[in-house]
Amino acid sequence: MRIHNFSAGPAVLPVPVLEELRENLLELNGSGIGLMECSHRSAVFQAVIDGAMERVRRVLALPESHTVLFLQGGASMQFLMLAQNLLQGGTADYIDTGTWSAKAVKEAKRFGTVNVPYSGADSAYVSVPRDWAHSDDVVYTHYTSNNTVRGTQFQSVPSSPGLLVCDASSDVASKPMDGSRFDLLYAGAQKNLGPSGVTLVCLSERALERARSADTPTMLDYGVHAAKGSMFNTPNTLGIFVIERMLAWVEAQGLDAVGATNARKASSLYDLFDSSDFWQGCADVDSRSQMNVTWRLRDDSLTAPLVEQALSAGFSGLKGHRSVGGLRASIYNACPEASVTALVDFLKEFERTHG
Ligand SMILES: Cc1ncc(COP(=O)(O)O)c(C=O)c1O
Repeated sequence: MRIHNFSAGPAVLPVPVLEELRENLLELNGSGIGLMECSHRSAVFQAVIDGAMERVRRVLALPESHTVLFLQGGASMQFLMLAQNLLQGGTADYIDTGTWSAKAVKEAKRFGTVNVPYSGADSAYVSVPRDWAHSDDVVYTHYTSNNTVRGTQFQSVPSSPGLLVCDASSDVASKPMDGSRFDLLYAGAQKNLGPSGVTLVCLSERALERARSADTPTMLDYGVHAAKGSMFNTPNTLGIFVIERMLAWVEAQGLDAVGATNARKASSLYDLFDSSDFWQGCADVDSRSQMNVTWRLRDDSLTAPLVEQALSAGFSGLKGHRSVGGLRASIYNACPEASVTALVDFLKEFERTHG
C-alpha cells in the first residue's frame, strides 16, 4: 500500500507515470524490447529522447536556440561543470542562500574568482534577497531558485549583468516560467521531473558559445554533449523515459493548473502554521517555498514523537534535513493535493491532543 510520501528527493511520482513505466519496462513502445534493454542508438529510444527534449522546451518556454541536455552526475556535477565551462578564470557572483549554493561556490572557486554579494549564513538562511550589488564584469550570476533544505524560494527571477545561471533542482517545472531568462538552468531530476541519475541542463546560445574551450575534459564539455544530442556516451535511458512521461503528465493538466495546485498545497500548510503559535514556520513569509515547507514545533521535544506518530499514520519523510532539524514537507508537483490535506488534518489533530 502506498503511503503519503513527503520525501525531499527522490520523491513521489504520479501513479499513472509509474504504471506506464512498469508497462514499458517489459516492452518499450511496442518494440518487443524492454526499456532498460533497449539500445540508446535505436529509433525507438531516439523518439523518447526527442520527445523529452521537446516537452522540456514547451514546459519551460525555452527559445528554439536553447540546447537541452540530459546529463549524469546529479546537480552536484553541475556545480563544477558549469564553472569549468563558463568561468575560465573570470569572475562570477554567487548568491548564497544555503547548503546547495555554498557547495556550488566551493566548486566554482577552482575555476576563477567567486564573489558572494549576498549570503544568508548569518541569518540562518531564512530568506532570499530581492537584489544585491552586482560585481563588475561578471561572467555570470549563479543562484538557487528554491532552497530545498531551508524552505525558501525566489519569488521572481533576478537579473544579472552577465549570464544568468540557476540551480532549479527543487522547483523546475512547478509553475509557469520564462525559460528565455536563463542562460544555464540545471536540475537534478529526482524531485520534480523523475528518478535520480539524470540531470536536466538547458543552455542559451551565448552560454554554449562561452563553453567552447579545448582544455575542458571531454565528459565535462557542454559543447561535446550538445553536438551529440546528449548521446556522447550512454545516457540514463530509463530516467529520460520517465522525464518524458512526467512532463506529459504536467502538460496534460497545463502548467498554469499545476502551479495553482502547488500554491494551494503550500498555502494550506502555511495557513495552519500562521494560525497558532503551537507551530512556527521557518522561512520569512516573503521568501517561503511552495515546494519544501519547513516548520518547527514551539516545543521541540514534541518533534520526534510527531515524526513517529506521523509515520504510523502513513506520512513519511517529514523530518527536517539533518543539518537543521525541525520538520519539512516536500510537496513537489507529483505530491497529491489529497496528501497535503490529509497531512493538515493530521497536524491539527496532533495540536489538539498535544497543544
Ligand atoms: C537545490 C539543490 N541543488 C543541488 C542538489 C544536489 O543534487 P544531486 O544529489 O542531484 O547532486 C540538491 C539535492 O537535494 C538540491 O536540492
